Amino acid sequence: MKIVFKKEPNLNVRVISGCGEDLSISSTLAATNSEEFSFITQALKSKSFTGKSGKYAEATVPNKKSPTLVGMVGYGDISKFTAAKIVALGGSIASYIKTISGDDVCIIMDNLKADSLTDAQIAANLAYGLLLKSWAFDKYKKPKDDAPKLPKTITFVTPSPDKAEVAFEELKAVADGVFLTRELVSEPCNIIYPETFVDRVQDLKKLGVKIEVLEEKDMAKLGMNALLGVGQGSVKDSKLLILTWDGGKKDQPPVAIVGKGVTFDTGGISLKPSANMDEMKMDMAGAGVVAGLLQALASRKAQVNVVGVAGLVENMPSGSAQRPGDVVKAMSGTTVEILNTDAEGRLVLADALWYTQNRFKPKVMINLATLTGAILVALGHEFAGLFSNNDDLSQKLIEAGQATDEPLWRMPLSEAFDKDIESDIADIRNIGTGGLAGSSTAAQFLQRFVNDVPWAHLDIAGTASTKKDKSLSGKGASGFGVRLLNDYIQKNFEGKS
Ligand code: BES
Ligand code: MN
Ligand code: ZN
Repeated sequence: MKIVFKKEPNLNVRVISGCGEDLSISSTLAATNSEEFSFITQALKSKSFTGKSGKYAEATVPNKKSPTLVGMVGYGDISKFTAAKIVALGGSIASYIKTISGDDVCIIMDNLKADSLTDAQIAANLAYGLLLKSWAFDKYKKPKDDAPKLPKTITFVTPSPDKAEVAFEELKAVADGVFLTRELVSEPCNIIYPETFVDRVQDLKKLGVKIEVLEEKDMAKLGMNALLGVGQGSVKDSKLLILTWDGGKKDQPPVAIVGKGVTFDTGGISLKPSANMDEMKMDMAGAGVVAGLLQALASRKAQVNVVGVAGLVENMPSGSAQRPGDVVKAMSGTTVEILNTDAEGRLVLADALWYTQNRFKPKVMINLATLTGAILVALGHEFAGLFSNNDDLSQKLIEAGQATDEPLWRMPLSEAFDKDIESDIADIRNIGTGGLAGSSTAAQFLQRFVNDVPWAHLDIAGTASTKKDKSLSGKGASGFGVRLLNDYIQKNFEGKS
């Protein structure tokens, strides 16, 4: 699917336009004095088209050699449009476009207005939403002849096509990052495991990202026994992947992003029930965001230093697997009693966080992890849980979440939760005592491995992959976190908004 921007509309192809509840039509379309335009004005009078959001009207324009389908999309209350709403509208057009079938589509939505956005930015953001929503993971499926198809070319009509092109270029870089994350999360676990995850991100080198990998022997030397213990039951070697993007000044401390990359979580000896266990192929989504975000930042040449660290392991039961009751010593020196081998993500992150803060001395450290089922109970698929030792960082992340429609909800850390992970025979245990507040005790565990750096933990267990369509993704992997962190970094570290 090619996306282009033009000044002049092409009315010989499928045309999609729209209007808000005030029913005022694109002046570009009006100026054409075309059959399409007169159809639309008639249709608006005769049909009960209200311009409400999610409403469509369409008809074929008669008296032509090849009849043209014109679709009208309801914008809803246009006075309240923001960048996020324009992107969401673009997403809804992606779904609509598949139903009208046609190789060429011309979108005439230059009557849209949004707070603080130029016409060019509006066109670019519409295209961005359309692109994000049209992604699908279909590589393992035979194509069906009668399946709804995306057009080959989509043309957006805008008064300033060159500027729209430039704005879109940057957004497309982010979308491609989101797609890398979605791909990694969607791939089955016989295809993506620590080694192949590392293989899959090698292309980032071409964009200027430095790639470093710690092997098991390197991690053993560093004392990363918490991470290594999780992978010891698997025949796949564990790895620590380090991606560095140095787009900022030399002495600028980096933003560190750390991801949980459990490429499959069986639960280990504390084996999960078999129903839906397949879903645990997505347990590397935090690491997937690290990869996608670094791709996005590098391909839009972000002027900032960022380091991404992913702890890649497979959690399997076997004769060599970790046992409930084992005690391991993490890199920090803290000893951990493993009471449930299914609470493995926090063990992986314990060493990854400790290593990251000590080696890179980051300005802020943010980790993402599909950490707990409990966050799904609390927040469903709608919000990711945010846990942080810093109010300012929390506020900025929440704002970035709102701007990108990847919302966060702050959840508590507390001394009481910290007490709940004290162990009888080691420094800490890897689960709480009563099975309550599971997301908070998990976060509290992570905090044990964080010193005084501003730190946030995003529990994305509910948002990384969904069973239902979302406004900008189909069912399955969403890429949640890439656009949020891209926005957070852009607004707070690149000195532009
Ligand atoms: N990867 C899971 C959490 C998860 C659950 C992610 C559902 C996505 C969807 C994590 O490793 C896990 O198993 N957590 C346990 C912790 C418990 C043993 C304390 C959980 O949430 O049940
Ligand atoms: Mn688990
Ligand atoms: Zn897990």
